[in-house]
Amino acid sequence: MSPLPRSVAGAGRRAVDALPDGVRRRVRSALGRPLARQVTLDGLDAELAVAADLFGRSEDEARRFLDGFELVVPPGAPADPFSEAYRQWTWHVYERISGRTGYSVANEHSPFDYERALVRPFPYQTRSATVVGDDLVARGHLLRCLGDPALGLAPPARVVEFGPGWGNVTVDLAATGFAVTAVEVDAGFADLVRARCPVGADLSIEVADMLVFEPPEPFDAAVFFESFHHCADHVAMLRHLHRIVRPGGAVLLASEPVQQMPYPWGPRLDGQSLWSTRTHGWLELGFDTAYFDEALARTGWEGVRRPVGPGHGAADVIVVRAREAGADL
Ligand SMILES: C[S@@+](CC[C@H](N)C(=O)[O-])C[C@H]1O[C@@H](n2cnc3c(N)ncnc32)[C@H](O)[C@@H]1O
Repeated sequence: MSPLPRSVAGAGRRAVDALPDGVRRRVRSALGRPLARQVTLDGLDAELAVAADLFGRSEDEARRFLDGFELVVPPGAPADPFSEAYRQWTWHVYERISGRTGYSVANEHSPFDYERALVRPFPYQTRSATVVGDDLVARGHLLRCLGDPALGLAPPARVVEFGPGWGNVTVDLAATGFAVTAVEVDAGFADLVRARCPVGADLSIEVADMLVFEPPEPFDAAVFFESFHHCADHVAMLRHLHRIVRPGGAVLLASEPVQQMPYPWGPRLDGQSLWSTRTHGWLELGFDTAYFDEALARTGWEGVRRPVGPGHGAADVIVVRAREAGADL
């Protein structure tokens, strides 16, 4: 049997994904694409113990296991996702998942072996060709989006990168000739990025929370690679970005979880996110696509999704630019 054209198959998938949860589960099971099994908070630690054991043997096996379950959707989300009550509800869910009382940016700290990371940073240290390949595809896609002539951002354009972590994107940007400022809250990562950057590159590093970072002068572009969703107040950050990026500049959100969610925004409930939140305390937010469009509009932005290609939706880039007029800032 010849396969369905991609557009038809994609439309079919989207239609199934739009069904109410219970119906969607039954339809996907019947189609041989069952959804992840659901676990409760009470059962979470037992699942994560299995994952910890698997991580000791194989990154791929551990990730496959984590991909196989998700948390039952927590009840009680207030109706208005822009309200204070809704924010408090998301913090409550975070506290339950993380097992911590409250969040601070100190929770974003990542333990790692500095000497080892100099030689073999993430993703290479996973020893998984799949993880490395996915990361390279995602970074390549971000660079291609940045190089879109419509943005007019050729090197040596000034780019600020928030949450560089291991510094892979930072190295890519600096080696390409961009003038890079990296803003990282974890001092250990900041040291690593400094050490990994090419000699002679135009790079400065600020150890700061992205929410309070004040630019010396506005940048041509701001880049987030898997870091925007760690921000403790994304609406405030979107407003803040008007001071960070010059008029006509761009914000690129790469590999950020703007996707289908069981609620407008809040902690993600998939196994890998649960692992990160419970093990480290990291904030692993996700944003429903419709909600995120509305959040952009309310803060004076509009975004265009640049899909990485069929089957790689997690690595899509959202190119965000200021709305011309009428923004509710
Ligand atoms: C998932 S890691 C992504 C790292 C890197 N961009 C990558 O993809 O390899 C998230 C990064 O954001 C940083 N981060 C989290 N919250 C932050 C904040 N409020 N301000 C600045 N950096 C933050 C973390 O320390 C971490 O380096």
